[in-house]
Amino acid sequence: MVDHANDIKSMKLYTHIDRVYRELNELGKGPEDLLDTSELAAFDQLHYHGVDAVQYAVDTLNISDRSSVLEIGSGFGGPARHIAKQAQCRVTALELQPDQNTVARELTERCGLSSLLNHRCGDFMDTDWSDETFDAIVSWLAIYHIPDRKRLLEISSQLLGDDGMFFTEDLYCRQSLEPDENQLMSTGLYAAHLPDFDTYLREFEQAGFEIVESRDMSEDWAEFTSNRLQDYRNKRNRHIRVHNLETYQAMEGFYSFVNGCFLSGKLGGIRLMARKSD
Ligand SMILES: C[S@@+](CC[C@H](N)C(=O)[O-])C[C@H]1O[C@@H](n2cnc3c(N)ncnc32)[C@H](O)[C@@H]1O
Repeated sequence: MVDHANDIKSMKLYTHIDRVYRELNELGKGPEDLLDTSELAAFDQLHYHGVDAVQYAVDTLNISDRSSVLEIGSGFGGPARHIAKQAQCRVTALELQPDQNTVARELTERCGLSSLLNHRCGDFMDTDWSDETFDAIVSWLAIYHIPDRKRLLEISSQLLGDDGMFFTEDLYCRQSLEPDENQLMSTGLYAAHLPDFDTYLREFEQAGFEIVESRDMSEDWAEFTSNRLQDYRNKRNRHIRVHNLETYQAMEGFYSFVNGCFLSGKLGGIRLMARKSD
């Protein structure tokens, strides 16, 4: 049986997660200290352009205090906390990896957001949702990890109310991959579903969604990941002091690998907003 929660650790972004606590220590925060989401933004957002990207979704989806939102693949909980705090709405944050989910829940408690934000641990594909529904499903760099897009969209459609919205920033494949490149992306990025851009849209349409916005983010993210890598290398001594050499090497290796994928022209980024239409 496939153990996604374990196998996904082949992607080095998901190892050394004690780096969150080391960053908090660097901020002078003890284990019990209360926190503000703004203090976490530099290290609790595992996607591109941090809270700006999340605020874009809050604005374009018109998320308000009356909205209920589900995030698929919530990581350390950064996007979900930003949404809950900015919109004062109810958010369910679903995360596959138990260790990340534990960190996320603790950070949410320390930010005083537990009454709005419900952290759940599990695989989106076999979570029991009973009769829960949401106005919006959001996801940053998570659904490319999930192989069965047809089933993912069927479940999403059932979870969304009438006119419910699906928003994602995700990865796609720009050029066909050689077997060795495919293998590298399966391990280094734990990529399980990377259609081309047109197929990406068509799969949503075939699942009964109307595309409201689709934007190719590839050039933007190639530049973002280049700058991220350069910045990380420039601060090598600081990162080794705050974390350790092993963590530095894991993160540097991951940032370098991802940047190479974008620069090769093989890996692309997409922003997609779609409305449930039937
Ligand atoms: C790149 S991280 C992004 C985390 C968060 N969205 C953010 O931007 O900060 C993607 C997350 O999706 C989670 N994930 C992958 N497959 C999942 C699944 N089937 N169900 C729930 N979460 C999943 C991973 O464990 C990982 O933490």
